[in-house]
Amino acid sequence: MDFSCKVLVFAVLTFSAKGKELTGSFWHITDLHWDPTYSLGNSGSVCDSSGSRPTPHAGKFGDYACDSPWDLINSTVNAMKDILSDPDFIVWTGDDTPHVPNEDLGEEAVLRIIGNLTHILQALFPKTKVYSAMGNHDYHPKSQLPPVQNSIYEQIQKLWEDWLDSSSRDTFKKGGYYTEMLLNRTGFRIIVLNSNLYYDQNKVTENIQDPAGQFKWADQVLTEAAKNKEKVYIIGHVPPGCFEKKRHKMWFRPEFNKQYEQLIQKHHDVIIGQFFGHHHTDSFRMFYSTTGSPISSMFLTPGVTPWKTTLPGVEDGANNPGIRVFEYDDKTLLVKDVVTYYLNLTYANIAQARWEKEYRLTEAFGVPDASPASMHHVLERIADDSCYLQKYYAFNSVNYDRSVCNADCRIDHVCAIREVNLDAYERCVEKEGASLVVPTLLSIGFALAVSMWASY
Ligand SMILES: *[C@@H]1O[C@H](CO)[C@@H](O)[C@H](O)[C@H]1NC(C)=O
Ligand SMILES: *[C@@H]1O[C@H](CO)[C@@H](O)[C@H](O)[C@H]1NC(C)=O
Ligand SMILES: *[C@@H]1O[C@H](CO)[C@@H](O)[C@H](O)[C@H]1NC(C)=O
Ligand SMILES: *[C@@H]1O[C@H](CO)[C@@H](O)[C@H](O)[C@H]1NC(C)=O
Ligand SMILES: [Zn+2]
Ligand SMILES: [Zn+2]
Repeated sequence: MDFSCKVLVFAVLTFSAKGKELTGSFWHITDLHWDPTYSLGNSGSVCDSSGSRPTPHAGKFGDYACDSPWDLINSTVNAMKDILSDPDFIVWTGDDTPHVPNEDLGEEAVLRIIGNLTHILQALFPKTKVYSAMGNHDYHPKSQLPPVQNSIYEQIQKLWEDWLDSSSRDTFKKGGYYTEMLLNRTGFRIIVLNSNLYYDQNKVTENIQDPAGQFKWADQVLTEAAKNKEKVYIIGHVPPGCFEKKRHKMWFRPEFNKQYEQLIQKHHDVIIGQFFGHHHTDSFRMFYSTTGSPISSMFLTPGVTPWKTTLPGVEDGANNPGIRVFEYDDKTLLVKDVVTYYLNLTYANIAQARWEKEYRLTEAFGVPDASPASMHHVLERIADDSCYLQKYYAFNSVNYDRSVCNADCRIDHVCAIREVNLDAYERCVEKEGASLVVPTLLSIGFALAVSMWASY
């Protein structure tokens, strides 16, 4: 398929001439989901995470029905090292363990897996600061992350001790979250959230208004940041808003979704970027002011695991392993570009692990940078131009699903990106759906008229 959506070719040339002297860069990786049971020597299924699904194309680097084998983890971290060996820092947004029943893991296995992934990152990036957020799979039992101090938070805090400032250790042990000055530089801050506390699968935090006091804490940190004229990045695992591959599917409990949205609306002046995972797909979310101007965007980085989701209603929801570099202005933290790299798993298994550049955001979508205003333009292009929609859709599964994104698919993606608020999302679905009905009725009417005319 030809993905050169033509109109914008020279916009790209103009913008790429800009200077790079102020550009910093960092890695964002997420959802590694190592499955230690993966083995081609197994009789029957090659991995526990496939459940009972067949794995006829399983190879050294994995299978689309399985979580990551160690060879894929090792290949990923080595690819990071080859592509960009000296990033300013690494953002790692969790989900380390395989998709298997709790009984097959247990606390010890969960901690061992987190420890193994921590060690390989430390081994290959010994001098790099890593900002690490917990995922819903980084706890036993999965998704039940408590709003109080517990031994798992304490042990993970120990595993990550070298990455944490001493000031971060207390809040991490109490609630799995922390904040630090970004790279210890005055005027720059990062907030690492434990958004698993808001996940609707988390029964422990149900009926708690502000689990672990995280909202109140974040509000204070951001208020303080504004006073100190700081610029802030927010990272976390489970994102607010809806899943673009399943209509109406939200991860947060509705009241937490509202509180998150309000937090961003109140403090968007200081929040320069939000970076999350959990979807395993490549997408983004827009936040608008009450008057409709784009005020913030959240980048959803694809997963390393290729694992095909078992979420009912999602057909063939696998992906190729993806990792990405964010380029940012080191004076303002503005995200200037996003470069996604991927492994074609099919090719890797038959030939060799070849990590390739998938796309660079500014080139692919003809925007000058990845600011909220530019991301709003990207969204408009996806919404209005089927060429861009199709391009985005292939990126969404990291070039796994090359099928056509039809009218319903367009609504799912456009509304999920545009509206983090559930009511607004529902209105978007209705409105975008209604615009489909008119041409359909018109064409039925036209067909009727033609057939009536023909029969005379
Ligand atoms: C990890 O990957 C590197 C680079 O691809 C390779 O040289 C090394 O042998 C691998 N290590 C293991 C344990 O597979
Ligand atoms: C994982 O960590 C354990 C120790 O916790 C170690 O025994 C094991 O060899 C590690 N596995 C890998 C693949 O690094
Ligand atoms: C951060 O910077 C301050 C002052 O510049 C210094 O005293 C402190 O040791 C630094 N902290 C870390 C963790 O590097
Ligand atoms: C991935 O590799 C397979 C096998 O070489 C190839 O058929 C397929 O087209 C590749 N996919 C992409 C997106 O390049
Ligand atoms: Zn995950
Ligand atoms: Zn997750």
